[in-house]
Amino acid sequence: MSSTKGSSLCRLGLTVTLACIISLSVMFFWFQPPKNCPLPLPLPRPVQNKPPESKISLTDAVEDKPVLLLWVWPENYRFDFSDCKKFYNIDNCQLTDDRSLYSNADAVLIFHKAISWDLTNLPPSPRPPFQRWIWFHVESPTNTHRIPGLENLFNLTLSYRHDADIPVRLKLNTRKKPDEKFVIPKKDKLVCWIVSNNAPSTGVGTRNQFYQEFSKYIEVTMFGKAYAKFLDYTEYYPTLASCKFYLSFENSIHKDYITEKINGPLAAGTVPVVLGPPRKNYENFVPGDAFIHVNDFPDPKSLAEYLLQLDKDDEAYRRFFNWRKYLFPTPHLIQQTQEFILPICTACDHIARHREYKQAHDLYEWYFN
Ligand SMILES: *[C@@H]1O[C@H](CO)[C@@H](O)[C@H](O)[C@H]1NC(C)=O
Repeated sequence: MSSTKGSSLCRLGLTVTLACIISLSVMFFWFQPPKNCPLPLPLPRPVQNKPPESKISLTDAVEDKPVLLLWVWPENYRFDFSDCKKFYNIDNCQLTDDRSLYSNADAVLIFHKAISWDLTNLPPSPRPPFQRWIWFHVESPTNTHRIPGLENLFNLTLSYRHDADIPVRLKLNTRKKPDEKFVIPKKDKLVCWIVSNNAPSTGVGTRNQFYQEFSKYIEVTMFGKAYAKFLDYTEYYPTLASCKFYLSFENSIHKDYITEKINGPLAAGTVPVVLGPPRKNYENFVPGDAFIHVNDFPDPKSLAEYLLQLDKDDEAYRRFFNWRKYLFPTPHLIQQTQEFILPICTACDHIARHREYKQAHDLYEWYFN
């Protein structure tokens, strides 16, 4: 009797154990994360790294968003401040152009080119002790007026320079999951160049001289204001994409002065041929095998010959896009009136994250030397 009881108990135990295993495995498969989860869209800026407000303000528990006063509209290119959120997901300061908020502004953004030589259009004195002034200038030294009296006024610099307090650059971003799907856009032109500015005073002599010689050996399709073939902004990326090579020639040659002229072709799927600071400087920002540097060749003729040879060698041409696997470019805003949206939004983001004291110090010494 007792043995029958024992075996039925045993059977019961076995059934319970089996039931447990089954329900556990059902739960396991049921709650596995779905495999087809859509990847989050890449953001133009790593906003996820934003420290929580409570970490920034070490004293007050809650601080309002810092106020950034735009003292003048650069070149009078106005935009809606909500564009910072729309384009770059930046929303952590209160941007304003209302000068009546001056005494409450945490920082004032002052556009260098708009400052008058007698300095009378600068913000009034006294400056509130907590307020920082930002020197806002995105041109190269060649195209910069050395207005006297500004040397020790600005707490922060905003510039394309990598060592500015607020560097404003178009960057390539890394991707963790390799992208194997990039397809080179269809090409029907060999070399293209869009030139909007041809004023010798802006330092374009070097690039024009190079072009004069270069274009004797290879056909260059020209676009832009300077060549009466004006491109509408909607045609900018498609046109770039249709060229095998694009001349990313900077107007003047300075350290870190590497502009949207290289970002355009990188974003469009075209190989940039760069003229600007040395290759090493470019390689701080762009992989060395993503572009061709004019200094890699003894003269314009050998560069032209190299491009003609690449035109016949698809395999070699394709290698210029290997970087696409692990990096991705971000197309920049191309309308002229949008030129200052990125710098202004970047300043906003900076003052929201940094509140450190900083004394103004030798602006021109840093900028020109
Ligand atoms: C900004 O720079 C000025 C000039 O050097 C200095 O007097 C002021 O204390 C600085 N302010 C802040 C908040 O860094």
